[in-house]
Amino acid sequence: MGSCCGEQKPASNGATERKNGNDSTVHNNVKEYYGKVLQSSKDLKTSACTAAGRPHALLRKLMADIPEEVLSKFYGCGAPVPLGIEGMRVLDLGSGSGRDCYLSAALVGEGGFVTGIDMTDEQLQVARRHAQAYCQQTLGYKGSNMRFVEGHIELLDEAGIKDESVDILISNCVINLSPDKARVLREAYRVLAPGGEMYFSDVYCDRRVPAHVQKDEVMWGECISGALYINDFHNLAKAAGFECPIVLQKAPIAINDARMRALLGNAQFFSITYRLFKLPGLLEPESEDYGHIAIYKGTIEGHEQSYMLDDSHSFEKSRPVLVCGNIAAMLGEGGVSHMSKHFTIMGDRSCHFGAFQGSPQVQQGTMAAETPAPASCC
Ligand SMILES: C[S@@+](CC[C@H](N)C(=O)[O-])C[C@H]1O[C@@H](n2cnc3c(N)ncnc32)[C@H](O)[C@@H]1O
Repeated sequence: MGSCCGEQKPASNGATERKNGNDSTVHNNVKEYYGKVLQSSKDLKTSACTAAGRPHALLRKLMADIPEEVLSKFYGCGAPVPLGIEGMRVLDLGSGSGRDCYLSAALVGEGGFVTGIDMTDEQLQVARRHAQAYCQQTLGYKGSNMRFVEGHIELLDEAGIKDESVDILISNCVINLSPDKARVLREAYRVLAPGGEMYFSDVYCDRRVPAHVQKDEVMWGECISGALYINDFHNLAKAAGFECPIVLQKAPIAINDARMRALLGNAQFFSITYRLFKLPGLLEPESEDYGHIAIYKGTIEGHEQSYMLDDSHSFEKSRPVLVCGNIAAMLGEGGVSHMSKHFTIMGDRSCHFGAFQGSPQVQQGTMAAETPAPASCC
């Protein structure tokens, strides 16, 4: 008997081919939706843009100081702003009215810098309007450490974003809206510095969204029709160079509108926060065991007692944890990852012990509250 996967042809509506008309039509429809149709998050027809749970307490505290106009036009589906990013260069793909840039501006401090890129003028105007006053009066900086650039996330080169010029790439409910997601991921990989990371939330589907649904402009604008099938996303990410996508959070999206539900059939949608590390030459297709040990130093503000890398890997301060080679690389093996200053990594790749079976500590449930699954990644 042959294997099933080897014989299958990609579906005709597979991720790389999926387009709702030509690129400029999709861009114009989305611009119209976010620039003219929606006035605030109250106008949304689905929970796709507001699906995620409560952000970290530190982010909630910072949000209290963000201007009301910025918050009222927030259309994200998560809170993809990592803590522990002081001094870093952040780029937000599809920054909208700028909420996540404002949060990042506070977290990177005066020594860091935040760029937001968006194609919708009305959203850019809101983001720009409050930036100077927020940085100087609220954060107490000498000047603004934010800028908002008009451009397409598929064409970061045209927007002047240079190779390897970004440490942390964030994005909140945007990539699903792009007609060329493969290109977005390739551009993301290009602009990230080695050791940098794409940390972002978006809408995904448990199957390929049927072609007739992709043609529905309202559902495209609401971040439903353009959602990628999860496996197609993994394959696109790997093809772009992000060999080992890991999931931090996954929450179901409720679609209560009767017309939309009827069109969608049994398709289920999720808001997922992914982490994609750029670690050239360090990540492998599978979790391999080299006997690496990772120890968290407890040095990230807001995560002093334990740090959750993803939904399968939690690290209590000072406790040694057996990890696979990929996780060791993400946490700092060789000092490449931006996480490396927060972890001690012991071990090297001189001896291979086979496929990684999971960390005994995690499997025994010593961190049960934060670790739902055994600690294997890819
Ligand atoms: C759902 S909203 C999210 C905005 C913002 N990230 C937030 O969390 O509030 C989508 C945003 O992405 C922008 N956008 C969509 N597709 C884009 C593209 N191809 N290039 C640049 N911006 C895009 C839209 O203009 C809009 O502001």
